[in-house]
Amino acid sequence: MKVGILGTGIVGRTIGAKLEELGHDVMIGTRDVEALLSRHEAAQYGESFDDWRARNGHIPLGSFAEAAAHAELVINATNGAGTLPALEAVGAANLDGKVLIDISNSLDFSQGFPPSLSVVNTDSLAEQIQRAFPGARVVKTLNTVSAYVMIDPGSVGGGDHHVFLSGNDAGAKAEVDGHLREWFGWRNVLDLGDITTARGPEMLLALWVRLLDVFGNGNFNVKVVT
Ligand SMILES: NC(=O)c1ccc[n+]([C@@H]2O[C@H](COP(=O)([O-])OP(=O)(O)OC[C@H]3O[C@@H](n4cnc5c(N)ncnc54)[C@H](OP(=O)(O)O)[C@@H]3O)[C@@H](O)[C@H]2O)c1
Repeated sequence: MKVGILGTGIVGRTIGAKLEELGHDVMIGTRDVEALLSRHEAAQYGESFDDWRARNGHIPLGSFAEAAAHAELVINATNGAGTLPALEAVGAANLDGKVLIDISNSLDFSQGFPPSLSVVNTDSLAEQIQRAFPGARVVKTLNTVSAYVMIDPGSVGGGDHHVFLSGNDAGAKAEVDGHLREWFGWRNVLDLGDITTARGPEMLLALWVRLLDVFGNGNFNVKVVT
C-alpha cells in the first residue's frame, strides 16, 4: 500500500521503517527536506535522525504535500502545534477521500514538565483536522502509546491492553482496525465512536506523561476491563 507519513520524529520514523519492512510503499514528509538533512541534531531519546537515516536511507523523503500526494493512506505524526500548518501545506486536494490516521497530541512544553494540553475539553486536534479538511476520513488512534508500543504492542504485557479509535467514517475505522491488527499485532482495538470521542484519548495524555515520569520509559499501556 502507498502510505504517506507526515512527520520525521520518532513516531514517523518508527512507523515508516516498520511499514517499509512489511513491504509497503512509504514516503515520509517534512517541512523542508534540505533543512532536515542539514540539521544533524543529537537524539533527545531513542536514535538521532542521522542514525535512523543511515539504516533507512532507502525510504524516500519529500515535502508534506509530496508524501500525501504519493499516498493512498496518510498518517499524521507531526507535533501538535504544527499539525494544522503541516496539513495546510499538504492541501485538501491531497487528502480528499483518503483515510487520515491522526496520532498527534497537543502537548505544550512551553512551561516545562509536565506539559499542558493546548486543545482540551470541548475540542480535540482530531476534530480540528476533520473540520478543516471535511473530505479527509480522519481516524484518531495510537496517540496514547509510545512509538515503540505502537508497532509492537506484544512487547508490553503480552499485548493484553487497549488502543482506541475515533472517527466519523465507519468504513475508515474498520480499515484502520484491520491495519492495526495486521501491521502491528494489536488485539484489543476499542472503537469509542465519532470524532468527538478523540477528546478522551487526547486528554489521557495528562495521565500518560505522569506514568512516563513514574516508569522512566514509555513501555506501558492501559487495559480497559468491564
Ligand atoms: N513520541 C511518541 O512516542 C509519541 C507517542 C504518541 C503520540 N505522539 C504524538 O505524535 C506526534 C509526533 O511525535 P514525535 O515525537 O514523533 O515528533 P515531534 O517532534 O512531536 O514532531 C515532529 C514533526 O513535527 C513537524 N513540525 C514541528 N513543528 C512544526 C510546524 N510548526 N509546522 C509544521 N510541522 C511541524 C516536524 O517537521 P520537520 O520534519 O520539518 O522538522 C516533524 O516532522 C506528536 O503530535 C506527538 O505528541 C508521540
